[in-house]
Amino acid sequence: MNFSAIPRERLPELIRRSPKAELHIHIEGSLEPEMIFALATKNQVRLNYASVEALRQACAFTDLQSFLDLYYAGASVLRDDDDFYAMAMAYFRRAAADGVVRAELFFDPQTHTERGVPIRSVILGLVRACDEARRDLGISAGLIMCFLRHLSEESALQTLHDALPLRQHLLGVGLDSSERGNPPEKFARVFEACRALGLHCVAHAGEEGPPAYIESALDVLKVERVDHGVRCLEDAALVQRLSREQVPLTVCPLSNIKLCVFASMAKHNLATLLRAGLCVTVNSDDPAYFGGYVLRNYTALFDALPELGPRDAWQLARNSLQASFAEPAEKEAWLRQLDAVFASA
Ligand code: ADE
Ligand code: ZN
Repeated sequence: MNFSAIPRERLPELIRRSPKAELHIHIEGSLEPEMIFALATKNQVRLNYASVEALRQACAFTDLQSFLDLYYAGASVLRDDDDFYAMAMAYFRRAAADGVVRAELFFDPQTHTERGVPIRSVILGLVRACDEARRDLGISAGLIMCFLRHLSEESALQTLHDALPLRQHLLGVGLDSSERGNPPEKFARVFEACRALGLHCVAHAGEEGPPAYIESALDVLKVERVDHGVRCLEDAALVQRLSREQVPLTVCPLSNIKLCVFASMAKHNLATLLRAGLCVTVNSDDPAYFGGYVLRNYTALFDALPELGPRDAWQLARNSLQASFAEPAEKEAWLRQLDAVFASA
């Protein structure tokens, strides 16, 4: 492939046409303010915001916790399986427009079961959307059930127990919410149980937490991918390991700026991570709150980092497909389509 012959101006179009996997999207973080207000009215949930505009204005965060407070308030409007279905379908339609062919959705059951919503409604609503996304939009999708790390391991074990009758609908499990002070070790037993069930394991680590959390996610939880992981650069030995083992990092550029992990996109370390040989992927995290879906994350990066070029765009899309938990035959087909996009450029 002759990447150097491709003009930079063509990148937005080529990235959009490239088949891509989105591996780090909290589906509750795709709830746009308009849908939050519509569901609040439908379900008679009182919000602390007077209007869609006031809710948008509240999206000025100082750190992860300041975001999570709003995110959990937004998710409180979801009550029945139709709500979960509608939320996920709205996401899938946007993802299809961005060229996403594979989406592995995080969801937070404890946020809902704590309010009396049955886990069955959450999962079956999302499954209905995943089936429809495949049938009508050509998106292959899977569900990753996340445990909230600010809650106890007992609560996570109970959640796993409650989800067991629906095991067949789960691709894997993850770990999210407030990172600092809640190290991966806290969830060693529940992840061991998940591995025994044959579930894929991922965890947020090294977003706000130290590089040691990335190491314990790998060594204690035995995760196959690290969500965020951007703070790995503070530990040279860890970077070498991540490169040697090709552990995928699901990086979320707009999220990192909104949550003040980096001061600006020009200061984002994604290009450094790529040059260190890491398997970096680009994702949206909570697109309704952070200013854009996956394509915006790519274009914001390429606009801000002049050292990134066409080969990097191809590499990032390729990494996302390879790092997904999709079937090998599906992956092969997408990888061929990706090469065709760049070969014809
Ligand atoms: N839940 C939703 N988005 C999250 C993030 N960026 N980090 C941790 N937990 C989250
Ligand atoms: Zn996340």
